[in-house]
Amino acid sequence: MVNLTIDGKSVSVPKNTTILEAARQVDIHIPTLCWLEKVSTTGACRICAVEIEGVDRPMTACNTPVKEGINVTTQSEQLKKSRKQIMELILVNHPLDCPVCDAGGECDLQDICYDLDVVRQEFQADDVNPETINHWPLIQQVPNRCILCEKCVKVCHELIGADALFVNEKGDRAFIDKKVENCTYCGNCVAVCPTGTMISKPFKFKARPWTLRKAPSVCTYCPSQCQIDLNVLNNEILRVTSEDAETTNKGTLCVGGFFGYSYINNQKRLVEPLVEQKPSSWEEAVDRVVADITKIKAENGPAAIAGFSSPHLTNEENYLFQKLFRAAIGSNNIDTEARFGALRALRALDKGLGLHGASNRMDVIGTADAVLVFGADPSAEAPAVDWKIQDAVRRGDGKLVIANMRQIHLTQFSESQLSYKPGSEIALANALGRLLLDRNYLDDESLKSTVSNYEEMKADLNAVDLAGAVEATGISLEAMEQAADIIGQGK
Ligand code: FES
Repeated sequence: MVNLTIDGKSVSVPKNTTILEAARQVDIHIPTLCWLEKVSTTGACRICAVEIEGVDRPMTACNTPVKEGINVTTQSEQLKKSRKQIMELILVNHPLDCPVCDAGGECDLQDICYDLDVVRQEFQADDVNPETINHWPLIQQVPNRCILCEKCVKVCHELIGADALFVNEKGDRAFIDKKVENCTYCGNCVAVCPTGTMISKPFKFKARPWTLRKAPSVCTYCPSQCQIDLNVLNNEILRVTSEDAETTNKGTLCVGGFFGYSYINNQKRLVEPLVEQKPSSWEEAVDRVVADITKIKAENGPAAIAGFSSPHLTNEENYLFQKLFRAAIGSNNIDTEARFGALRALRALDKGLGLHGASNRMDVIGTADAVLVFGADPSAEAPAVDWKIQDAVRRGDGKLVIANMRQIHLTQFSESQLSYKPGSEIALANALGRLLLDRNYLDDESLKSTVSNYEEMKADLNAVDLAGAVEATGISLEAMEQAADIIGQGK
């Protein structure tokens, strides 16, 4: 641990902690503009500058690591003056269109100006007034509000792996541009923008943020189950946000989560029940359902009644659904489409390992040494899982094996690609198992405690015909061995 003093408070933090992180641990607030916890530091704005005793110039707290025994000052007249000057310089070409700016009420620039008492600015520059970019779908960009903090570029590259946004031009002409063909429209650039530069077109001019009520919820578009806040006004969902802190998805959403809410208020949506295709009241519809179920039950017994629930329901809603059927109606004939896609995998997990769900938390993937993605395309099917895999292999030292019939988005980050012939998944899985056994990668102790028929499983794997697997999958033995080494060398 490293010991230091910040504004007279002693703090002890692990090596490589930044001064900013250390200050937060003792509730000392240092202003930031370009810093975002979930991406690498940029150190561009310098608003976080602090004084370190014995160092002749201010240092940026967001990217300066702590050192044993240093004495840091975060508030002084000199710091206030230089921070004010930084803000004044940023404001040189920033339009003061706050009354109509979409970020009004949640603009970091506005807040810091207010905190630092920045009431005028003394500098002048050429009036660079780039055009608003309006031709992108879903997102509008107002370049003259941009402070070039690059948070949007970093989330796009480091978290999403889309590489769509980049800084175009130089100096005071610089602006954030986009390779539209790379954009996944996840909306994270809008979410992290500290000013009103990146704007959600569907939300534009819909409401001021302080008028919105935030209702915490869970996104049901995919199994990632990201934590979201439905931003509601007059019983209408006007946007979806997600907090970086204390959410499993760290505030990051995909296009479905961020933009996929408009169906809720769509005029074409069915908003009243139909009985025999005619609009009716809820009372009438519920009475009819109860009467029909009661009649069928009386005539044919409860087993004659079956219920199917939507894959977009939450666990809690599905629990109530099965309770209604099992306890109230007395029928066990229930199902959900949520089960169909993964049914065979779930059965295999249950049969092989006794697991009825995932074997670990999703965020554990982000710290894995090795990741095998078999037959899935997480970027399309469960984007938050994709981001965790990217965390492991692009930001960590993990290695990725992609086994798929097709090229998928994650293929570009993989060290090993197993492009198998359609229908040869089992042959490939067995061959990888055999190679892990042959190359002494199996953890005997761990497997003995989790697999009841371990010796039988080993015997089965020993009997796997590797030449046959090469023939069936179309993958060379060398490629399979390389994949087995990556998987086997992971902890
Ligand atoms: Fe530290 Fe911008 S927040 S340099």
